[in-house]
Amino acid sequence: MRLSKKVVAMAMASMMVFSMTACGNSADSAPATSEPEAEAPATEETNDAAAETETTDAATEDAATDAAEEAADAATATAGEGGNIGVCIYKFDDAFMTTYRNALQEILEGKGYTVTFMDGKNDQAEQNNQINNFIAQGVDALIINPVMTSAADQIIATVKDAGVPTVLINREPTAEQMAAYDKLVYVGCDARQSGTMQGELILDTPNKGDINGDGKVSYIMIQGDPENIDAQYRTEFSVKALTDAGMEVEELDLQRGDWDRNKGQEIAQNDLAKFGEDIEVIFCNNDDMAIGALQAIQAAGRTVNEDIYLVGVDALDAALNEVASGNMTGTVLNDAQGQAEGAVAAMEELLGGKTYAEGEQSIYVDYVKVTPDNVADFQ
Ligand code: BGC
Repeated sequence: MRLSKKVVAMAMASMMVFSMTACGNSADSAPATSEPEAEAPATEETNDAAAETETTDAATEDAATDAAEEAADAATATAGEGGNIGVCIYKFDDAFMTTYRNALQEILEGKGYTVTFMDGKNDQAEQNNQINNFIAQGVDALIINPVMTSAADQIIATVKDAGVPTVLINREPTAEQMAAYDKLVYVGCDARQSGTMQGELILDTPNKGDINGDGKVSYIMIQGDPENIDAQYRTEFSVKALTDAGMEVEELDLQRGDWDRNKGQEIAQNDLAKFGEDIEVIFCNNDDMAIGALQAIQAAGRTVNEDIYLVGVDALDAALNEVASGNMTGTVLNDAQGQAEGAVAAMEELLGGKTYAEGEQSIYVDYVKVTPDNVADFQ
C-alpha cells in the first residue's frame, strides 16, 4: 500500500504521541556488513507476497545460520552502530503482516540495522525455537509478532531471562503479563476502535444497515482467529456500535475464517446459499476475508451497497480498490507503516536504556475509517 502524503502526515502525527526520541541512528551509522540478502519490499500483498515468501524464507534461514557464526560480533553491537535485530512474524503468508513486515524491513535497514526475519509458520513451538536461536546468536533486540497470544507469558519469561529488549507487535498481551519485564513494550492498535468504526460504516449507510426495513440489521460475522484479541474486539465492538445507536440486530451466523481469504469466501458462499436475502450485512474482521466474501457475494448475484453491505479492516490495496469502485461499503486503515515506525522507535528507546512501568507498556496507533469519500487519500 502506498501511503499518500496526508496519510503519512497522519502517521507522523500519531508518532508524536509516542514522544520517543531516536537514539542517533541514521543512514550514516556504519551498517553491519553481514546484512542478509533481503529482497526489495514487495508492493503487492497476499498471493504475490506468498510467492516471494519462499525465497525470503530461504534467505533468512541462511542469514540465521550466518548470524549464529557471528554471535560474538552481534552481541557487542549497539543502537547507533547498526545493531542486530531479530524479527519473528507469526506467519509470512498473511496479507496484512506482509505489508507490516515490508515496512519494518525498510525502516530498520534504512537505519543501518542488520535484520533477520523468521517465519513462525503459525506454529508457536517453531517460533519459540526461533526466539531461542536469536537469543543464542546475541541479537541486540527482538521484535515479536506472537503466534499465540496465550504464549505471551512464556515468550516474556524467555526474553526477560536473556535480558533482550523486546517489542511485541500485532497480538497484544495483557498489561499484567507485560509487567513481568520492564524492557518490553507492545506497539499496536486498540482493536475496539476498529470494531466501532466498522459499526459506524454501517450506521452511515442510508438505511443504517436495515436494507429490508424489518426493524433489525441481520448480519453474518466472519471472524479472524478467535484466540486473537483483534478478532474478539472487532466482533464485539462492530455490533455494539449498532446496538449503542439503538439498532436491533440479528446474528445469522458467526464463523471463524482465521484471517484467510479462501475461508472468507467459503463461509460467505455457504451463508448466502442458506440465508439468501435475509443477509443485510457481512462483517469481516479483516480485508482479506472481505475480499473472499466479495467473490461469494458477486457469484451469488448480489450487489454491495444495493442489497447487501460489506466491511473489513486493514485497508489492503485490494480492499481500497473495491471501496473506490463501490464493491465494499468501507474498511478501516490498520496502519502498518505507523505501527512499524512506532515499533522501531520503541525498540530504539529500549536500546537507549529506557524501561517501561506497568500500565505504560502498550503504545497505540489510531485506526482510520475509509469510505468512498476519502479512499483516494489512502491509495
Ligand atoms: C489484521 C489481520 C491479520 C492479523 C494477524 C490483524 O490486526 O487485521 O489482517 O491477519 O492482524 O494477527
